[in-house]
Amino acid sequence: MSKLIVLSNRVSLPNPDKPAAGGLAVALQDALTETGGIWLGWNGDIIPDSRDTSADENTSHAAYQPQFGQVVDGKIEYLTCPLTQNQYDQYYCGFANNTLWPAMHERQDLLEYNPAEFETYQQVNALFARQLKAIAQPDDVIWVHDYHFFSVARYCRELGMDNKIGFFLHIPFAPLSIWQCIPTAERLIQDLCHYDLVGLQTDYDQSLCMQACTTLLKAQKIQHSLVSYQQRITTIKCYPIGINPAQIQQVAKKHANDRQDVFDLKALKHQKTIIGVDRIDYSKGILERFDAFAAFLEQYPQYHRRITELQIACPCRMDILAYQRLFRQVNQTVEKINDTFAQHDWLPIDCTNEVVPHETLMGLYRLTDICWISSLRDGMNLVAKEYIAAQDPENPGVLILSKYAGAAEQMQQALIVDPTDTQDMVNALKTAIDMPLEERLSRYQQLMQGLTTFDINDWRNQFLSDLRKNHQLENFKQPI
Ligand code: G6P
Repeated sequence: MSKLIVLSNRVSLPNPDKPAAGGLAVALQDALTETGGIWLGWNGDIIPDSRDTSADENTSHAAYQPQFGQVVDGKIEYLTCPLTQNQYDQYYCGFANNTLWPAMHERQDLLEYNPAEFETYQQVNALFARQLKAIAQPDDVIWVHDYHFFSVARYCRELGMDNKIGFFLHIPFAPLSIWQCIPTAERLIQDLCHYDLVGLQTDYDQSLCMQACTTLLKAQKIQHSLVSYQQRITTIKCYPIGINPAQIQQVAKKHANDRQDVFDLKALKHQKTIIGVDRIDYSKGILERFDAFAAFLEQYPQYHRRITELQIACPCRMDILAYQRLFRQVNQTVEKINDTFAQHDWLPIDCTNEVVPHETLMGLYRLTDICWISSLRDGMNLVAKEYIAAQDPENPGVLILSKYAGAAEQMQQALIVDPTDTQDMVNALKTAIDMPLEERLSRYQQLMQGLTTFDINDWRNQFLSDLRKNHQLENFKQPI
């Protein structure tokens, strides 16, 4: 059987003291173990720029190839390299996270475009393509992950590679009007059409991707999920990422009894608890949620001292201005709300910036009454799925879920809210607090059913099986 090669910006390297906890990392590792495989990506280090060119004076900047470090664990080989300071600034902080990320999350106001950053993004994509060329056998299957690597397949094809190459976008896909703000949009969508299979999180994202291909490139739509562009056929299809519900249920049950250091849950025994877990990212609607919580406390003073919002807010991408600004705003808003409403024995919002271990988090989910997700745009949002899976089947909590999270397409039995409508969120919170056990049970059971029907392994298997049997021109008798 051909082996599998995974490429992602971040790589989940094996750690003997701490097995991979994230569902995605485990699912990919399982797939890699099954056939034997390689996981390629950035090792998280940044090296000074001088190394780009000084390593070999005859090597041009564009063709700079870093040293890849190798770690072998069972049947998986991990190959990772550092980024140079310039690559980190321009590819990672720049084009990936200051152009594509805001674009995909419909934040035109935050979208910046700098041609030099686009250039470096292309160089990094080319660099990983060269590494793929060096390690892949012709029948190996390559699975590229996320917005950092729109252009890798193009460079692979330029290097003469005919391998099946799939791409999964973990974040939303931008609407046409936003693509049109990126001067190199057409080029990026062309690059996407060098993949055999492009996977998206939701039907909505799938339709936006199709529309970008047919409108920007005038590519021909030949079936619901097939597009033809310059003699190449690309399948564009929705694969909503899932979790492993049975395993999470087990972990949550086991860890619910742990001593909880993150929040003092014992002291909150007689209160309603809300949990929010987010990277501090402007796509998550954290400030909107805090505003709605403050409005709730205004409108329902009888809940003072009877409800606490527990917030895990993890700082990320702190070299980017928009993230630094939001980090300050989040902490200031928490302070302001606490100043307004706190009493000597009650803090309305208990917010930590700590990264909480996955199993502790699952235990915490099981012990909290409400999970509140207010993303303004989100690829899937696995917190929604993990919160439900972690619940006590006999006394489950309630999920409040933004209609703009990908998860809302499949989790309609949650309390679906519009995070831009404060009163809608206040009402949902009140409904969640008052919800009788019978209704909580019925919603929980339907949500669990959905999580079990298409789990993380189904997601991975379906993507890989579609990629392996992917259509190319020879499968089409009709002229295209
Ligand atoms: C999102 C992206 C991932 C990324 C993660 C963390 O979930 O889809 O590709 O790894 O954010 O972001 P970071 O910039 O810290 O890698």
